Amino acid sequence: MRDSFADRFRQRCRVIARAPGRVNLIGEHTDYNDGFVLPIATEQETWVAAAPRDDQTVRVYSTELDDQQTWPIDDWQAADFPHWTAYVAGVAALLRLRGTRLGGFDLLIRSDVPPGGGLSSSAALEIATALALTDIADISLEPNELIDLCRKAEHDYAGVPCGLMDQSVSLAARSGTAFLLDCRSREIRYIPCDLGDHVFVIIDTGVRHELAGGEYARRQQECRQAVDYFRRLDPQVRALRDVSFDAVRSHIKQMDPLPASRAKHVTSENERTLAAAEALRAGDLSRFGRLMTESHRSLRDDYQVSCRELDQIVRIVTAVEGVRGARMTGGGFGGCVVALTRETSVPWIEHAIVHQYQPPPNRPAKLLRTHPGRGASIEFSQST
Ligand code: GLA
Repeated sequence: MRDSFADRFRQRCRVIARAPGRVNLIGEHTDYNDGFVLPIATEQETWVAAAPRDDQTVRVYSTELDDQQTWPIDDWQAADFPHWTAYVAGVAALLRLRGTRLGGFDLLIRSDVPPGGGLSSSAALEIATALALTDIADISLEPNELIDLCRKAEHDYAGVPCGLMDQSVSLAARSGTAFLLDCRSREIRYIPCDLGDHVFVIIDTGVRHELAGGEYARRQQECRQAVDYFRRLDPQVRALRDVSFDAVRSHIKQMDPLPASRAKHVTSENERTLAAAEALRAGDLSRFGRLMTESHRSLRDDYQVSCRELDQIVRIVTAVEGVRGARMTGGGFGGCVVALTRETSVPWIEHAIVHQYQPPPNRPAKLLRTHPGRGASIEFSQST
């Protein structure tokens, strides 16, 4: 990183920060409903090297895209720049808005988190950038302030009204554990992931999602309609977190069909997530896997955020001996499947996918292995 930075920008970098992607094991579309999520940080990470400049210019280089973009720090417009710059521009602008003394800077990005793959490449870039820029500005933010700032960059600059999960786990994950987050209280429980002869594998469908494309925001709206229904019955209800699956079941006939099935997913998913955390703690991997596969069914049928390719991969993978369960992970409409499997079955999964999966043109499926990685950190700093 240091050499690439010096070659490109003709100055020495001041700080190097890294942040992982995440794969959500269970608890999907629950974070913006004040519910529970259970992701792990991936070993796939985004690294950022940065140094301040004497002027107000920002220069950013992406190694993977081999693309450099330059803008005056206070004048980044979404329409004029490629989308990947939004995360850096957003974090920098929001830091300045909160009064941080940050001038121009050079920043180099390197990442092996697949972009648009449902593994939170965007949160990884935001968090790594925020750590690097706060370091060169000589400040340090409380974890929740840093998470909220990155989440706001995603909302206001990248146009995705995301929940809390991705930035939280990218910053605060601990190696070897799953990250059970209560998205209302923000309490974190680290659940040891003793998988023995099992592993999590990630299978990328090759289909790229576009969360900004309306469906994600529409689901939030439908959840709010369900909350309105239940609030009329009980004024204490603030979010779907406050509604049980049984309550949804007994009202399903009186509710509008869409909010009803969205609420059915969210309330059952919250219960599955807590049950899965318990199963993981108890080492009951068969139960954990069954809950993953049930979660997929619920996302496919009730929440309707899956797609043909995700469903096909889940079907193919769960038919392989030794696989405990599989589900789509992340926002949906493409991206990745996560499966829990015996390690010895991994070659059979690869074989089944090569022979049975019909990928989109020129985008073959890819299989990644990952162990629960550690949260973001500053790896090198020469700040005064
Ligand atoms: C995206 C969002 C997250 C979360 C998931 C769905 O990844 O960024 O906040 O809502 O979708 O679980």
